[in-house]
Amino acid sequence: MTNSIKAWHSAIVHSIADPAEVGIEKSYQYFADGLLVVEDDKIIALGESHELLPIYQDKADITRVENGLITAGFVDTHIHYPQTGIIGSYGEQLLDWLNNYTFPAEGEFHDKEYARKIADVFLAELLRNGTTTALVFGTVHKESVDAFFEASEAHNLRMICGKVMMDRHAPEFLVDTPESSYADSKELIEKWHEKGRLHYAVTPRFAPTSTADQLTKAGELLQEFDNLYMHTHLSENHQECEWVSSLFPESKNYLDVYDQHNLLSDRSIFAHGIHLCDDEYHRLHETGSSIAFCPTSNLFLGSGLFRLDKAEQHKVKVGLGTDVGGGTSFSMLQTISEAYKVIQLQGEKLSPFKSLYLSTLGGAKALRLENQIGNLAVGTEADFVILDYHATPLLKFRLDQSKTLDETLFVLMTLGDDRTIAKTYSAGKCVHSRDN
Ligand code: GUN
Ligand code: ZN
Repeated sequence: MTNSIKAWHSAIVHSIADPAEVGIEKSYQYFADGLLVVEDDKIIALGESHELLPIYQDKADITRVENGLITAGFVDTHIHYPQTGIIGSYGEQLLDWLNNYTFPAEGEFHDKEYARKIADVFLAELLRNGTTTALVFGTVHKESVDAFFEASEAHNLRMICGKVMMDRHAPEFLVDTPESSYADSKELIEKWHEKGRLHYAVTPRFAPTSTADQLTKAGELLQEFDNLYMHTHLSENHQECEWVSSLFPESKNYLDVYDQHNLLSDRSIFAHGIHLCDDEYHRLHETGSSIAFCPTSNLFLGSGLFRLDKAEQHKVKVGLGTDVGGGTSFSMLQTISEAYKVIQLQGEKLSPFKSLYLSTLGGAKALRLENQIGNLAVGTEADFVILDYHATPLLKFRLDQSKTLDETLFVLMTLGDDRTIAKTYSAGKCVHSRDN
């Protein structure tokens, strides 16, 4: 008979606070020889194995993890599932990239069967990379969101998605209207929001593709339902920023366009936020809004360097996003590696503990889900990953020489990718196993 309690005997690390607030030493817990204990979908104990094994060795099925490290499942705070098929598209910056690659690809998602096929590929890719929660763009078609939520529900994943609202400056086959976008979003909210582990995000694409009327409708939806997210793009590219000031001359700045339509709250997540002024950071902080820092995308599309220092100074919440398909990898390890380089280019250092925070607990906090996911605290949901120190010959060779946890984490983050994720668990169940 198998036990309903399961335990993993392993090295374990997880983030418990932002290093910018408490200092590095107090920002994490590490158990060199730890035990993570799970009953059904929840974590019921975490600690040193010599303390917990006497309690659980007869009650739990115990898995011994050799040469590996357990941490929380990664949280991707900004990604587009319909762009899976255009990842790695050559040569353009944001606005031409949207017109030449993105919009044609998104046009296919009126077909629910096609959308489900891509949703399955996308979720498999997230899980192969150890990402257990993501804030996800659909397309303008409500079928795209039905397909995504159905696929997520089948794996019992904690996921957030929404239908794109876009009523101008896009091809005819991709535009809705203020009224239809309101009605379709409402229908999806009633069907999916807070069903099991799923949540809905009101998703105006970005200010240039919505009229003021549509942004007003988005704000109305947020008033009408509890706990909805608001997910959009902000201040990513210089041309985009100039376009926004010409389209909304009465707004003080880019963020103010959203603010004037009541779209800022502690469940609002803005992707990129690269070219912001102090007033905008201040207002993000004041409203509890978050930024998704998307380094691979910001480099790939030539958008610019995210100012993590400014976000920290203004105490703006930040999560990490892959932004696939503007971003070039589903791997949060690769994304961390590029974030490090973005910060290096500004003469600063991104410590591996800050990266651990940004990719797990920081993302969860940005999404107001820190009581459910983001670390391995007792009572939270058992979403976690097993990282393999021996995933590649180079990783093994390099880590064999590592003397500290800092070094081990930093090397995992610099050399790691999907091969490093041996297993991914969601709500206590294995949802990806690299070797079978
Ligand atoms: N701004 C508006 N739409 C998009 C998109 O699909 N990707 C990115 N990176 N930026 C955007
Ligand atoms: Zn994006």
